[in-house]
Order: sequence, then structure tokens, then C-alpha cells
Amino acid sequence: MDKKITIAIDGFSSTGKSTVAKRLARELGYVYVDTGAMYRAVTLYMMRKLFVSEDNFDEEAIIRHLPFVSLRFEFNEDLGYGEMYLNNENVEKEIRYMEVSKQVSKVSAVSKVRRMLVEQQQEMGKNKGVVMDGRDIGTVVFPDAELKLFMTASTEQRAKRRFDELKDRGDDINYDEVLENVKERDYIDSTRDDSPLIKADDAIEIDNSDLGLDEQFEKVLKIAQDKIKEV
Ligand code: DC
Repeated sequence: MDKKITIAIDGFSSTGKSTVAKRLARELGYVYVDTGAMYRAVTLYMMRKLFVSEDNFDEEAIIRHLPFVSLRFEFNEDLGYGEMYLNNENVEKEIRYMEVSKQVSKVSAVSKVRRMLVEQQQEMGKNKGVVMDGRDIGTVVFPDAELKLFMTASTEQRAKRRFDELKDRGDDINYDEVLENVKERDYIDSTRDDSPLIKADDAIEIDNSDLGLDEQFEKVLKIAQDKIKEV
């Protein structure tokens, strides 16, 4: 039987990481972990409890409230992946709202938040056979992952994809707002002091600006299968 490996997928927001990661996990029979959902759920909790917003951000208070945040993924057969539960409430839909996207990068920059979530992610992936996507998976969470991918695409392409996704879901949203949010998150995520988004030296970069979903998936699947044979 093939040996199970750890697959780390990092990259800027809306590069299509999660679409590829979910499909790859299903194809290989691996567990998929969406670490962005975990940062989003912590952010949602802090928005509800502390009213975190553009002009209200109290790092000390966030740290004090962290012990009350309990996160878990519950596998949904129909969807084929785990949905995010915050203190036993399914928040899968709510964490994708624009209001949460606007605050999530700031909350994610708090070191204590990162330490707590990184520890949980390492626990979830300790038996390998996992596809984990995020910003610091190949650099911090699993620096020894057998396969690391770094996904990129132009800012406009990414904003367009995100806009289409939110529109399809019925959100009342305009493209400029989405573009602004994508740029702002890119900036905060890649310039924060603690584990900024950078490409790991040994990551394979995949620019998918001009790749269709299937093309992209086939490319990644081939890389993963080759790696699994090799280890
Ligand atoms: O993948 P996403 O767009 O849902 O992630 C939301 C935010 O969470 C992202 O802007 C930064 C943060 N994040 C992080 O700091 N580290 C991770 N491993 C995953 C996400």
C-alpha cells in the first residue's frame, strides 16, 4: 500500500487553493483541513463577543477570550468535506461573509491566536494522509511536509473569482469592494511579523491565472501521485 504523505498548500487569498485541496483529498482518500476556516471562526467569535471591527481592536481582550473558543470540523457526506463548528454551532456559511473577511487578517496576526491554531492543526495532521491549505502550512505548521505547493494568480483574477463566488451565493456585493479586500488581506498576511505568507524554499509554485479548474487539478494530482510513489 502507498505510504501516506502530508500535502501543504499555501498561497494568497482566492487562488483556488481550497477547491484543488478538497478535490485532491477526495481523490487520494485524505483528510482535508481548511485552516482559513479556523482563523475565520476565531474572528467571528471575537466579532460577536468583543465587537471587533475597523475601529475596535483590542489584542489583549482577544487573547483573554481565546480559551472560550472551541473549533472542530464535522464531515458532511453530501459536501464531501468537513464543515466548521464554533462552540458546537455550524458557522460554515457565516465565516465566509465579507464582514468576517474584513477583520480576519488582523485577528490572524495575533501571535497567541496563531500558536493555538497551529497546535490544533499539527494534531489534526499528525498521522499524515492530510491535505491542508492556508498561508503558513509549508513554513510553520508542517515544515517537513513531503509535498508543498504554493499557488498564485493575478490579483484581478483572484478578486474576480471571489466576486463570482459571493454573487452566486446571493451576496449583495460590488467588485471594487472585493478587490480592495483581496489587496488588503494580501498586504497584511504577507507583512505581519509572525509567520507571514511566504513561499517555502522547497515549495512548487503553481500560477493558475490561465489554468482551468480541471487542468489545474490534473496538474496537482500528477505531482502528488509522483511524490507518493517516490517516498
Ligand atoms: O484561506 P482564507 O482566505 O479563508 O483565509 C482567511 C484568512 O485567514 C487569511 O486572510 C489569513 C488567515 N490565515 C492565516 O493567517 N493562516 C492560515 N494558515 C490560513 C489563513
